[in-house]
Amino acid sequence: MKVLVLNGSPKKKSDTFRLTDAFLKGLNKDGEHEVHVVNVIEKTIAPCRGCFGCWQKMDGHCVIEDDQNEILDLYRTSDLIIWSFPLYCYSMPSHLKAVLDRTIPLVKMRMQQLEDGTVRHEALADFSKIHTLVICGCGFPNWEGNFDAVKLMCNTCFCGPDMVCVPEAPLLNVPLAAIVADPLLAKFEKAGEEYAQKMTLSPETVAELERPMISAEEYIRNVNGG
Ligand SMILES: Cc1cc2nc3c(=O)[nH]c(=O)nc-3n(C[C@H](O)[C@H](O)[C@H](O)COP(=O)(O)O)c2cc1C
Repeated sequence: MKVLVLNGSPKKKSDTFRLTDAFLKGLNKDGEHEVHVVNVIEKTIAPCRGCFGCWQKMDGHCVIEDDQNEILDLYRTSDLIIWSFPLYCYSMPSHLKAVLDRTIPLVKMRMQQLEDGTVRHEALADFSKIHTLVICGCGFPNWEGNFDAVKLMCNTCFCGPDMVCVPEAPLLNVPLAAIVADPLLAKFEKAGEEYAQKMTLSPETVAELERPMISAEEYIRNVNGG
């Protein structure tokens, strides 16, 4: 299977990517998958100009010639796409959002209304076999509402992907927190193995992965300096 990982953290030592890396270790335990990691921050990807040139005159090709074309080529040929990113202002970092915005050459202007009433653009090709997984880490301890906006956006854009949202992600790069971070990383590795078998994650596995490492009170106390 071909796996495309879009790493949206701008940091060299990403908290979120520690989770994604552990997941990939489990997913590719036997080394049989082709994994391509794109560090989006290192790429030149301009914001979408909103010209609809890709629909109106470029036959599904963006008018901007930059690194997004390479990403779109990988997108079209991947079996699994993993969006790995930190939560920024309840959404994804802007450089990764530019990648998402500029996937519109993958669909047509033509719209279709689904049975549930939602309206979508028709895809240019049959992308129904591409699986999507979202791994999102954030800095707050878990609280209602923190992930709502990003979940809604990803659910709608990626047609109900598998999605794991992890609170307290900065603990993953704090050496003193290894006692709680390492078991979570082990769970992500196991989840990668599960995904390789079933091409999805069970709700029970997602709940395990999303469980805060320490209580909100303890986390806030540590962040605030004890
Ligand atoms: C600009 C910015 C916006 C952020 N917005 C949120 C947010 O809305 N909610 C949250 O819980 N954490 C927020 N964070 C914290 C990051 O999600 C957190 O530090 C995460 O662990 C960083 O992951 P990374 O190391 O993979 O980049 C924000 C951080 C930055 C720099």
